[in-house]
Amino acid sequence: MRKNIRLLLNSTVGKLPRRDLWSAAVPAGATDAETLLTRRALVTGITGQDGSYLAEHLLAEGYEVWGLVRGQANPRVRRVRQLLSDVRLVRGDLLDQGSLISAVERVQPDEVYNLAAISYVPMSWQQAELTGEVTGLGVLRVLEAIRVCSGISASRSPTTGQIRFYQASSSEMFGKVRESPQTEQTPFHPRSPYGVAKAYGHHLTQNYRESYGMFAVSGILFNHESPRRGAEFVTRKVSLGVAKIKLGFERQLRLGNLGASRDWGFAGDYVRAMHLMLERDEPADYVVGTGVTHGVGELVELAFKVVGLDWHDHVVTDAAFIRPAEVDRLCANPAKANSELGWDPKIGFEELVTMMVEADLELLSVSGGHAEDSFGSDAW
Ligand code: NAP
Ligand code: GDD
Repeated sequence: MRKNIRLLLNSTVGKLPRRDLWSAAVPAGATDAETLLTRRALVTGITGQDGSYLAEHLLAEGYEVWGLVRGQANPRVRRVRQLLSDVRLVRGDLLDQGSLISAVERVQPDEVYNLAAISYVPMSWQQAELTGEVTGLGVLRVLEAIRVCSGISASRSPTTGQIRFYQASSSEMFGKVRESPQTEQTPFHPRSPYGVAKAYGHHLTQNYRESYGMFAVSGILFNHESPRRGAEFVTRKVSLGVAKIKLGFERQLRLGNLGASRDWGFAGDYVRAMHLMLERDEPADYVVGTGVTHGVGELVELAFKVVGLDWHDHVVTDAAFIRPAEVDRLCANPAKANSELGWDPKIGFEELVTMMVEADLELLSVSGGHAEDSFGSDAW
């Protein structure tokens, strides 16, 4: 296991690639140059839920963190600037190969975390081609940027100083599940254009590892939530809906399939697993989840219970939220992550739902019922 080593280096090793420096022994007399080395991470999707938690985690681990941001006037960039002020920003878009090469060249990262995606499953039917381009081919473009900038080719293997790559794969790839719980070996049967695009990115990451010897890994993460979750996802839709009803801003909450089940965890726990995967000596893929599944109906019941209301009085099912093809039930077997990474989740389902409802009650109380930016009140 690598350590987060900060080395004092003398000028003789100052020209080595950064990763070689971490594995190099500190030479005699190293203290005289006093160059403090910090690991550098580039995170795509920095404006999203996971990007924010991962950036905080890496900063706390002593990293220099860079976030890739897109768009001419992306409103979420201002929020990142204000609230993750230690994160440095670089422009780029997963649709634009040249921009990714420029970003990798500029940042010279030791680790790249590819969290950017169109991640809302229903949108992937409405904009299937765009989803394929961003969520699927975007992975290829990031890997190519790393490969080109590292000078790796079929005939030239990476050196020990190579850039390590993390891909945000998804339990949505299991789709119509072939077995339960799902492991790293469970075959994929994706049920949405999003799931298909993620499966492409997953296989491509394995392929770059096998073709070029790159340190490229995928985390197959099950659903993870927080007060920073986008308002379109069911947990946050429910926590916001419950808070609005409790505070008298709304009377009804319209939902789709209450019969689906998910393995829900806390996003803050899951970003630790991402980092641990890049700390390993050998690259490998890991399933990350709690191993416990709950129904959407259970989520709804619990969230209303937190504020002392009965969900039957407020929830209406609406066919508009039913998907063309559903993933009925997901449940992780996180045994490999547990034994090899030493990872396990700290926050359970009840605590998570309570945290989200309470955060939204606070947010809406302060804002008078508005939650346009969709992030909760926990430090955002
Ligand atoms: P999220 O909140 O939806 O964030 C998605 C991020 O992708 C945003 O920062 C967005 O930036 C960025 N993005 C979208 N299109 C882009 C483009 N063309 N170029 C560059 N950036 C672009 O997602 P999340 O919940 O944090 O999830 C992070 C990753 O994990 C995603 O890949 C998701 O598919 C995957 N995943 C999530 C879960 C989960 O339960 N949360 C589970 C498994 C896998 P803008 O602000 O510019 O839109
Ligand atoms: N969003 C939403 N809105 N979902 C609803 C609703 C509703 O009104 N009513 C019922 N659901 C059900 C969906 O049909 C689905 O079965 C379940 O709630 C969870 O939906 P989401 O919260 O939208 O998440 P997801 O499971 O489709 O996808 C999330 O998790 C994946 C990992 O399994 C996303 O974060 C993906 O990006 C991620 O890969």
